[in-house]
Amino acid sequence: MNFNEKNIDLETIIRDEVNKYLNQDVSRLNATEQAPKELTQKYEKMPIPKVGRDIYEVLSELNNEVLTYLYRPNHKRAFSFIPGPASRLSWLGDILTTANNIHASNFKNATLPISIERNLINYLADKIGYEVKPSGGVFVSGGSMANLTAVVTARDRKVSLDKLTKTTVYLTSQTHHSGRKALHVAGFPSENIRIIDHNEDFTMNVSHLKETVEKDVKNGYIPALVISTAGTTNTGAVDDFNKIADICEAYNIWQHVDGAYGASHLLSTKGKSLFKGIERSDSVTWDAHKLLFQTYSCAMIIVKDKNNLINSYGEKAEYLDDITSDDDVIDPEMLGIELTRPARAVKLWLTLQVIGEDEFRKRIDYGQELAEYTKDYVESLDDFEIISQPSLSILSFRYYNDSFTDEENDHLNNLAAKKLADSGYGVAYTTTLNNKKVFRMCTINPETTESDIKETIDRLNRYILEEVKEK
Ligand SMILES: Cc1ncc(COP(=O)(O)O)c(C=O)c1O
Repeated sequence: MNFNEKNIDLETIIRDEVNKYLNQDVSRLNATEQAPKELTQKYEKMPIPKVGRDIYEVLSELNNEVLTYLYRPNHKRAFSFIPGPASRLSWLGDILTTANNIHASNFKNATLPISIERNLINYLADKIGYEVKPSGGVFVSGGSMANLTAVVTARDRKVSLDKLTKTTVYLTSQTHHSGRKALHVAGFPSENIRIIDHNEDFTMNVSHLKETVEKDVKNGYIPALVISTAGTTNTGAVDDFNKIADICEAYNIWQHVDGAYGASHLLSTKGKSLFKGIERSDSVTWDAHKLLFQTYSCAMIIVKDKNNLINSYGEKAEYLDDITSDDDVIDPEMLGIELTRPARAVKLWLTLQVIGEDEFRKRIDYGQELAEYTKDYVESLDDFEIISQPSLSILSFRYYNDSFTDEENDHLNNLAAKKLADSGYGVAYTTTLNNKKVFRMCTINPETTESDIKETIDRLNRYILEEVKEK
């Protein structure tokens, strides 16, 4: 018995399939495509055969159906999500790590892949401004898992569990919803989650934070955690980490910075000046599958003092005794929730080693420049207004005509976003800011050109004007 059950010529098949994708120009395909209902039915109901089918038949279904109807994050006019485009080097790293089916729980199972993980955590911790010792961290599947890992760590460090009902946490309406999920999983009562006002630029209003913390303390609550953000999902807003740290340090509160999308801008030319005071935080979420151009999934939780991760996750088990490291090196499985985990750091290391930090800087800078270009172009059009200024590489804007009601204007923006997606040319979905429907564009793909942006906005404008004419 072996794994090549049907004497399939996998060598040829793998080579052909990889070649096919290497030669594919994603941006010539539709930026997003919805599967027809009958195919959804087909795959939801497809029985598992008692005797296997011909591989070419199954691959044909995969390529022509399953992998056809997708949102394509690598498409140069896919502007709507910050889980971003991936470098082919990352894909290569994925192939090689998956091909070796690496079990990256403990050093003894994957010594050098884990050395690489430590190397990168140290490198990025240094960019944040944490001391390499005692900072530390672990690669996780995404920003949501990183936020959960941090929230539990903060809870264990700051709260005694019998006081959880008297413990308060602070965030804004702009905090990514994975923060609220994490608080729920960690057992924080929802009535103890304080939603702090945001300023006009969508950053946390620190005066309101201070007042709220003071009021809570007066009322016998124990403030434990502030979730600030380095680049909010909606607008790219960056909180004032120094002012938040002043409050956190005064009241013994953990500051977690959600930098899932934004932290990569630490590698840009503006770098640290965009995130003053971030080094005073206790932990940072950083997603490499956003602006470090990695395939999903690849993210990190980085903490100022890794002993806090060990405190939360450093469980021992007798069946791991033979592979558990001595005290001077900490196995990744002791720093986070996962035991069996892929060696996610390897693909990021491969990409960084091959293209170097300068090229990353150029690519991230370029995204910021494209956001500025987008703003200038939107401002040149009639009846369009910028709602959030370019921040990092995100901005939002909307069509607004004062002869229409708010609902009618919202409808026009929604309709144009839908038509653009349906056309396959590009994707610029809406979000809601200050109760208005707005287009949100994340200009993070190094392959996007100014003319891609211009034509995308022109098409949105055209869809709206066609609808207006019909009214
Ligand atoms: C600021 C922020 N935090 C967390 C997340 C969640 O990350 P993931 O989708 O990798 O779980 C996102 C996703 O866009 C985000 O923008």
